[in-house]
Amino acid sequence: MGAIKDILRTMDYGPSPEGSDHVRSWLEEHKSGFGLFIDGAFTKPHDLFDVFNPATGEKIARATQGSPADIDAAVAAARKAQAKWAPLSGFERSKHLYALARHVQKRERFLSVLETIDNGKPIRESRDIDIPLVARHFYHHAGWASLIDSEFPGTRPVGVCGQIIPWNFPLLMLAWKIAPALAAGNTVVLKPAEYTPLTALAFAAICIEAGLPAGVVNIVTGDGLTGAALVAHSGVDKVAFTGSTEVGRAIRKATAGTGKKLSLELGGKSPFVVFEDADLDSAVEGAVDAIWFNQGEVCCAGSRLLVAESVADALYAKLRARMANLRIGDPLDKSTDVGAIVAPVQLERIQRLMREGEKEGLEFFRADDSLPARGCFYPPTLVTGVEAASILAREEIFGPVLVAMTFRTPDEAVALANNTRYGLAASVWTENVNRALEVAARIKAGVVWINSTNMFDAASGFGGYRESGFGREGGREGLHEYRIADEPKAKPSSAKPARLNAAPGLAPASATAGAGLDRTAKLYIGGKQARPDSGYSYAVLDPAGREVGLAGLGNRKDIRNAVEAAAKAASWGAATAHNRAQVLYYAAENLSARAAEFARRLRATTGASVRAAEAEVEASIRRTFVYAGYADKFDGAVHATRSRFITLAMNEPWGVMGVVCPDGAPLLAFVSLVMPAIAMGNCVVVVPSAGHPLSVTDFYSVLDTSDVPAGVVNIVTGEANALAKTLAEHDGVDALWYLGDAEGAKQVEALSAGNLKATWVKASAVDWRQAEGREFLRRATQVKNIWTPYGE
Ligand code: NAI
Ligand code: MG
Repeated sequence: MGAIKDILRTMDYGPSPEGSDHVRSWLEEHKSGFGLFIDGAFTKPHDLFDVFNPATGEKIARATQGSPADIDAAVAAARKAQAKWAPLSGFERSKHLYALARHVQKRERFLSVLETIDNGKPIRESRDIDIPLVARHFYHHAGWASLIDSEFPGTRPVGVCGQIIPWNFPLLMLAWKIAPALAAGNTVVLKPAEYTPLTALAFAAICIEAGLPAGVVNIVTGDGLTGAALVAHSGVDKVAFTGSTEVGRAIRKATAGTGKKLSLELGGKSPFVVFEDADLDSAVEGAVDAIWFNQGEVCCAGSRLLVAESVADALYAKLRARMANLRIGDPLDKSTDVGAIVAPVQLERIQRLMREGEKEGLEFFRADDSLPARGCFYPPTLVTGVEAASILAREEIFGPVLVAMTFRTPDEAVALANNTRYGLAASVWTENVNRALEVAARIKAGVVWINSTNMFDAASGFGGYRESGFGREGGREGLHEYRIADEPKAKPSSAKPARLNAAPGLAPASATAGAGLDRTAKLYIGGKQARPDSGYSYAVLDPAGREVGLAGLGNRKDIRNAVEAAAKAASWGAATAHNRAQVLYYAAENLSARAAEFARRLRATTGASVRAAEAEVEASIRRTFVYAGYADKFDGAVHATRSRFITLAMNEPWGVMGVVCPDGAPLLAFVSLVMPAIAMGNCVVVVPSAGHPLSVTDFYSVLDTSDVPAGVVNIVTGEANALAKTLAEHDGVDALWYLGDAEGAKQVEALSAGNLKATWVKASAVDWRQAEGREFLRRATQVKNIWTPYGE
């Protein structure tokens, strides 16, 4: 450091390192290697792998590569502990979570330094953001623990949760996983990322110190193999994962058909949209927090800068000037802005993508190319003149690289923002409140920050749309991931299994059978009756095996047409909830006017008694009324997050939903599934009961006479599992409900991995008389959190 008069002249920062002796001595104590934390104690270390400080390349610890046998032991401990943890009173669980929060807070400095040494993030961030948010998460969920029974009636804990977290916010991701799981009465086996296992191990020590009962939290370190063993373990009831979309997809496939509950928080390529009336200086500071916070290793990083053409040059100039002031270097230095990339493999990944960008001839700006002599560093970079098709505009770089594009109109801005397969977050900058909220509503992302970015709080949900995953973490919506609804025990369906007279090997009835008389119920697509693409129909039989009619034999092409029609009807989602309610009431009224006819049809096809058939029609009318009533009442929330922010949790429709109906109660099941979906603004492609489709095909005329806009409900009859397969594979389908057999359920979950659509499958009998309520509405929506600041 120079003399004081020199410093006064340059006003430069001198070095200001955070002390790390306490952490180094803790690491020294564990020099022989860390074991795993199972059933309240550390195991003997084995199969050690090295842990590095990426800022220096120095080896700082060794941790155990958890084996399948370790996972077995951890799951068994969690199972045993859950039997005692779940029955504890909410108050008792609350005190435990509160104790964890207190202990984390007491050790904030230790944990921040350890996090920085292991991950490479600046101490300023681990100290001011990561660790305080960890404590906040445990405090918030300590509250939920004592409220869970009263606030989530009719639900119970899921059981043992397998949780896998990434390396970018190691302890914070641990808190996001463990706190809600424990509050909701579950126990956990958590696997930290192999590059950053240390704060999780320190947390294990905190669990002992805080007196958490043995087995409630188990920590098993290791790499993807350990993670895969945890996912595959049959004793795990729920998997929660944060990480790459690629691994998320593999986990979706691995858990398909197992009945495990799943939440995925995956990658992103989030837009940072700057309109011409934005406060550009604030937007520049926002961009710094959006992409240079945590070296850009943030799943919701604002990595795509979309700026109005008229202010683009001005914004770029300000950004370049600001970049010259970013300090890159020793993460333990309190004045460092940009620290080290987590590990050499991640640095290489960034470098590889940037080389691809160079091949495209893109223009890179870096204020200063000089980097620390050792360690894993990458300089803050701005790439301008990027085309939407460029690899740098499409791929998640997960590094300090901001990629800029321009737009001319708000519509173009929204189109560019949504031109990605991801949908994790977005940031919108404008001084026009009307425009801000309109754009926030139109961007398909789970979190939208207005005139702000990367704001987090335990009371707000966080999670993605589209290929950014499904499920939320944080807030009330996050707790649903850790509870399951108690279901009334249903008698196995009394309906005879579908008798599809057109299965392979059986002669399909031709569409013109019956002496030129076309008695075939057609499909219903885009508000019109349509002949099946195959030209075939199949005979619908009554329980005695007599033919009662013909139904169209839909195929892939029909499903594709139906999905297209549903997508075109998207304005249904923007109609007022009052309008949707009126349409549903009208449908109920029209069904009611024809109740006798529908009851006769049910009797004829299912062989139900007069009373049972009439009761099913009556129940269908009532249910439609219920969802008409709900249409404008399943509203969102305003979360109590940070001061001077309104955080709006909006229940938004998925968009296009597939609905595959079961065989039992053909009319009531159809109504019970379709009405909540459309009440919330979705457009649906429905596959009715294959055995008894005619009550649903009769419903076409009810839809026609009830002002249901064309394309909102599309119906394709045929073999349920074949049609479900096409729906599951279709990228235009955003969510899929499947009620059928175990094999079909597994197929749907596995094939949904393509675009990571949300699925809800049931292979067991449902008591349709009771299948009603908020759970259906919740499954028909996804929560978007919009953060709006106020005050000057
Ligand atoms: P990753 O998805 O492989 O790692 C995340 C976690 O999953 C780690 O704990 C890892 O051990 C575990 N894992 C890996 N394979 C697994 C498997 N088959 N089954 C179960 N668990 C498994 O991510 P990685 O390789 O560290 O980073 C690759 C890219 O992923 C990054 O460049 C970034 O684009 C993205 N990423 C996104 C994150 C997010 O928060 N959305 C976090 C980390 C990475
Ligand atoms: Mg490390």
